[in-house]
Amino acid sequence: MRKAWIPFLASVAVLATSLGYAQSRVKAQASAQPDAPNGRYLPEYAADGSLKLPRNWRSWVFIGAPLTPNALNGGKANFPEFHNVYIEPGSYAIYKKTGVFPEGTIFFKELQLTLPGESPDGSRTEPSGRGYFPGAYNGADVSVKDTKRYAATGGWGYYNFNHHEPKAATAMPKPKDECAACHIGSAKKDDVWTQFYPLLDNLSLK
Ligand code: HEC
Repeated sequence: MRKAWIPFLASVAVLATSLGYAQSRVKAQASAQPDAPNGRYLPEYAADGSLKLPRNWRSWVFIGAPLTPNALNGGKANFPEFHNVYIEPGSYAIYKKTGVFPEGTIFFKELQLTLPGESPDGSRTEPSGRGYFPGAYNGADVSVKDTKRYAATGGWGYYNFNHHEPKAATAMPKPKDECAACHIGSAKKDDVWTQFYPLLDNLSLK
């Protein structure tokens, strides 16, 4: 064999090995995904009972972005600042048909800071106008419906995956007084704040 072929063949071998590795990783991820037969993503729990950070939530159905700027909340909002709320798509499809959140429904609320303010109210001016503009990601809160597992907190489990980045890999359920009590007290439907999500509040919306 001519010497010039050797580096070429070596790089083909490296490429083939790494392609094979990438493929087997994709397979491993796919088989670990606990999809129910109808394609829903259901909650995954670690051995210690903690909830694993849901996968692929960034491609779930986006239902709203309530905003509680720090500057309007004494400098420190409880949930700073944009709350980008998503619902798992398979659960959403069932809810659209039945009007009921099925067991295993997951809501994912990613927090996102505003870009630094120019005024005391935290607002700034950009070409579109004066207001609040999305900045750095800032952790997440998650709720999971399971009427047996979370009977003590109204049928939903509540989890905080940090209010800073990176998001935690797992989280333990929060006690009733920290999360569930407020949801039970004032959320419109089944402890979910459908009053702030037109897509869930009005089932005829597409
Ligand atoms: C004082 C009231 C209050 C408390 C306490 C509270 N929440 Fe909420 N939560 C809300 C409101 C209001 C919304 C509606 C959207 C928004 O403003 O973020 C909401 C929305 C959510 C959502 C989106 C789905 C839904 O139900 O609308 C999740 C997930 C969530 N909260 C998780 C949590 C977790 C986890 C905790 C505890 C760490 C918690 N919440 C504590 C008031 C509360």
